[in-house]
Amino acid sequence: MCGIVAYIGHQKASDVIIKGLKRLEYRGYDSAGIALMDGGLNVYKKKGKVSELEDFIKGEDLKSTVGMGHTRWATHGEPNDVNAHPHFSQSGNLAIIHNGIIENYAALKKDLEGKGYTFKSETDSEVFINFIEDIYNNNDGTLEEAVRLALTKVVGAYAIVILSKEKPNQLIAARKGSPMVIGVGRNEFFIASDATPIVEYTNEVVYVNDYEIAVIKDSELTIRDTKDVKMTPYIQKVDMELEAIEKGGFEHFMLKEIFEQPKSIKDCFRGRLIANNGQLVLGGIREYANALTNAERIVIVACGTSWHAGLVAEYIFEEFCRIPVEVEYASEFRYRNPIIREGDIVIAISQSGETADTLAAMELAKSKGAIVLGVCNVVGSSISRVSHEGVYTHAGPEIGVASTKAFTAQLTVLTMIALRVAHRKGTMAEQRYRSFLAELESIPAKVEKALKTDDQVKKIAALFKDSRNCLYLGRGYNFPVALEGALKLKEISYIHAEGYPAAEMKHGPIALIDEEMPVVVIATRDSSYDKIVSNIQEVKARKGKVIAIVSEGDSLIPGMVDHTIEVPGTHDALMPMVATIPLQLLSYHIAVMRNCNVDQPRNLAKSVTVE
Ligand code: F6R
Repeated sequence: MCGIVAYIGHQKASDVIIKGLKRLEYRGYDSAGIALMDGGLNVYKKKGKVSELEDFIKGEDLKSTVGMGHTRWATHGEPNDVNAHPHFSQSGNLAIIHNGIIENYAALKKDLEGKGYTFKSETDSEVFINFIEDIYNNNDGTLEEAVRLALTKVVGAYAIVILSKEKPNQLIAARKGSPMVIGVGRNEFFIASDATPIVEYTNEVVYVNDYEIAVIKDSELTIRDTKDVKMTPYIQKVDMELEAIEKGGFEHFMLKEIFEQPKSIKDCFRGRLIANNGQLVLGGIREYANALTNAERIVIVACGTSWHAGLVAEYIFEEFCRIPVEVEYASEFRYRNPIIREGDIVIAISQSGETADTLAAMELAKSKGAIVLGVCNVVGSSISRVSHEGVYTHAGPEIGVASTKAFTAQLTVLTMIALRVAHRKGTMAEQRYRSFLAELESIPAKVEKALKTDDQVKKIAALFKDSRNCLYLGRGYNFPVALEGALKLKEISYIHAEGYPAAEMKHGPIALIDEEMPVVVIATRDSSYDKIVSNIQEVKARKGKVIAIVSEGDSLIPGMVDHTIEVPGTHDALMPMVATIPLQLLSYHIAVMRNCNVDQPRNLAKSVTVE
């Protein structure tokens, strides 16, 4: 939530920053702003998208080579020009951009007001910069020292960059709990919330750790921690192609990412899975491989779509490995004194690797002695670093706010982990194990085929685009698919949608069904096929409009329902990867037809770094 970019070097800072903010806009798009050292410290900010800020500064003569920018997802204070970042300190000598939340801001503000400070905005960030200024004015030390002292007193999460009028060629940055990457170029440095604004200039980056303060001046980067201990910046190569963060001819990132899935699933098992010799190598889990195989229970923590992937994994682990699994919303887990024993396995699933609740749940599990494994997409992210070990999903950058390819990549990784455990543990016979590996290898081709339903799905979308509600039903492995389908529809089209286990419908939701109610049923041929056929009949008896996702060649269901979408058959456990495709397409087309902003739905942000 909120994207930050800063630049110091020889290029025109405003160009680098505006371009970078556009790449980070998925993190928040309530307002945007930029501060430049242009013969003074000048701030330009505007409610709305980065393009509005861009129009606003058009015509200004902005030559500065030092600056910083912010795209906001509002936490404290409504989205307007005043609450937009950057924020000045009272004297106008300092400016800040901030991603995160300062939890004790009210107490700090009260103190500062007592000293005569006044505030223009309602933000915690403006309090933060004045708190730093107050310390700076009342101590003999440098600004860096004042920042360090301030950071020992604030409670909450932050990734901040500070500019000072007194030091026009200096950037001070710090983080705790919100992501920050520094790009190291030739006599130039970039600071950003993730590597996407950086990769077109340099592939050398330093991931700033919690409680670290970076100072960039005189073409030099120095990092100290909040105890003032000097750290050695660890420069890593980031492996991200520019095309991966551009739309590549698609109208929206979401559509591009939906269509990328045959490739992203393949990328996910590339070098790990070689079915014809029974090979499954997961280099990310070595030291804890035995602990995982012998686990008495597994707890999965995640949020949103990643939580849905966790639900599928619960069914897979229990069936393949016979290990009991509990899937928890990270936000609930962290606040309910969960029972975690020394040596329990906790798997955290996250696309962004920055979700605050998931991170906190991991920290809590670690503090209770659990072994925490991460399944994460963003390389070098906080979650990947907090995990003891883990497996990257390698789906490539996911820019559309609604998660699509990350979900199928998570399912791929989780299936591979479960297969490996089952094989080591002996809960799956060799022949079955090998046939699963072969089937998993065939999934990209099946997803490719499922994508061919696009035109048909678009026609169905046109019929249901004005619906006010929608029900999604599934059983077994397809129950989490129903939840995911409903989430996709509501988040991007703003149509209310509910996912339910099909048999639960009788216990309440059936009351909603009438001739106006679209009911999407995932009814592929699996072990609960006959049961779901009965559930479809129950809906039809009440005149609901049924859209059924069925296995290729199904000759029964098409005669019972209003619309059928065929997907290739596969094993029950792998069907979620295939069956989810038409549901992603359905929500995408409905949202486009309703003129919704598909890639940046209202009120949402891609990376939820606040709880
Ligand atoms: C839904 C969606 C969100 C995320 C959730 C967790 O399309 O994108 O529900 O899945 O915010 O995010 P990560 O996976 O980054 O932890």
